[in-house]
Amino acid sequence: MTQPKERRTTPAVSVRTIGAERSGVDVSGVDVSGVDVSGVDVSGDAVRVVALQNAAFSQSWNLADMRRILAIPGAIGLIAEADSGDGGGPAVGFVVVQRLADQAEIISIAVAESWRGHGVGERLMRAAMASAIVVGACEMFLEVAEDNMAALALYSGLGFEVVGRRSKYYSRSDGTRADALSMCRVLVIEEGEEV
Ligand SMILES: CC(C)(COP(=O)(O)OP(=O)(O)OC[C@H]1O[C@@H](n2cnc3c(N)ncnc32)[C@H](O)[C@@H]1OP(=O)(O)O)[C@@H](O)C(=O)NCCC(=O)NCCS
Repeated sequence: MTQPKERRTTPAVSVRTIGAERSGVDVSGVDVSGVDVSGVDVSGDAVRVVALQNAAFSQSWNLADMRRILAIPGAIGLIAEADSGDGGGPAVGFVVVQRLADQAEIISIAVAESWRGHGVGERLMRAAMASAIVVGACEMFLEVAEDNMAALALYSGLGFEVVGRRSKYYSRSDGTRADALSMCRVLVIEEGEEV
């Protein structure tokens, strides 16, 4: 008989909406290298999300991109922070979702490298799905490189299925290209299912 899967312990992390900012934030631990912070308030969430995005992806965002994306009607941004006891823990991941009519699309998701494999990505995805349901989405779509095993495992584990492929969609710094897989999940919560 197959043994039930042992639940991994998720470190204490809180997920909240980007922009519902804390006051008196300490940004001393935030890596803002490569982020244009001239003339902006670096205590904001935007700088944290840009730093997480740029550490995870070669296609970088700047603060203006970030603010533009979050200002689009239907955009939902969520940030995960480590619980430090005093409410001032570091940002460890984020997800940005775009809702259009009854469909939602994952625009980006990333977890800080040292925090990966501890359930933060799953927490963010579940929060993203729950938020999308609240604003009226019935389906969620995303695109993922066919060789991104961590992301594929995360999405498959949450019930996303491959519905399409874009040939050579992503270009890599070494000159190679990778296909994008389009994945989809119906946002209907089954009885007893946790989202
Ligand atoms: C993809 C990403 C967000 C996953 O975040 P994470 O916090 O590490 O994911 P979780 O710890 O919640 O893992 C969720 C599931 O994904 C799978 N998974 C995570 N990392 C994995 C890895 N390196 N290899 C295989 N499976 C992995 C596991 O099945 C895990 O569930 P389980 O341990 O209960 O079986 C993270 O790896 C990341 O930020 N990557 C860089 C950015 C990126 O690729 N974003 C996605 C673009 S489409």
